[in-house]
Amino acid sequence: MHNPTIAAMGLNWNYLAFDVHPDDLEPVLRGSQRMGFIGLNLTVPHKILAHDIVDHLDESGRKWGAVNTIRFECQDDDGIWVPSWKVENLEKRSTRMAGFNTDADAVVRAIREELDLPLSGKSVLLLGAGGAGRVAALKCAEENVGQLFLVNRTLKKCEEVKKEIQDLYPHVQVEIGYPPKNQAMDLILNATSLGLKESDPLPLNTDSVVLSQFQYAYDMIYQPAETRFLSLCKKAGCQTTNGLGMLLYQGVKALEIWTEMKVPDSVMRNALNQHVYGKE
Ligand code: ATR
Repeated sequence: MHNPTIAAMGLNWNYLAFDVHPDDLEPVLRGSQRMGFIGLNLTVPHKILAHDIVDHLDESGRKWGAVNTIRFECQDDDGIWVPSWKVENLEKRSTRMAGFNTDADAVVRAIREELDLPLSGKSVLLLGAGGAGRVAALKCAEENVGQLFLVNRTLKKCEEVKKEIQDLYPHVQVEIGYPPKNQAMDLILNATSLGLKESDPLPLNTDSVVLSQFQYAYDMIYQPAETRFLSLCKKAGCQTTNGLGMLLYQGVKALEIWTEMKVPDSVMRNALNQHVYGKE
């Protein structure tokens, strides 16, 4: 999705994928910097490791405790840190590796734009309290949701996330468990990995909720395009969308960080749809 967008922006850059062993992460990052890379994206398990390797953490990297985007920077003539590709005589300048996180904002942007649902004041049932679930829960709290219900197979993780929210956003009402069945709810959000495989069980206990309680359903999974969970939500009358938007918006934001230019979302969305679903 990056390469067609980079081309549409008139840049002579290439986005490439590399398989890196976690033990080699630091020398690989330093080597990329020395080789004149513009930046990098990182995925599991590198996001947490990179948090402790980068020279500088952007607020987003610090807040979420994980780095999925790195930008190589140097000081310009005024001593301001700028993307290294923008300046000349790099060898004479101070350089650093800056870490950002574009995942967290992408969840909220996808929900806001694809479901037309701003989260402020809304009631949300979040399924999952792993890596993605924790960030989604904290982000919902940051967006001032009205009420947040947390459900996860491992209860301890819900308790830890609840505690984190209570410390950072004490005004947000957080409950562990399902909402009462007669309560009209805004959003049900699946942040578990259940649904990736066809044989997976549903990410929720169908005796504990009525899907028609919810007006909107979001599944972070985008492959398959419609999980069994999403299909049941749709049948129950919810407005639904899958996690492709999250993948898109974290990419849009990363490219904005590297280029400091406006990124044409539609080019990236088309490329993503074509590669993931074979749609033209
Ligand atoms: P990610 O980074 O994608 O969030 P993760 O941290 O491994 O990955 O989290 C996976 C999520 O899916 C967790 O909420 C996990 O529940 P646990 O915290 O109890 O492990 C959930 N999950 C995975 N397999 C599951 C299963 N078979 N039944 C119920 N929940 C499951």
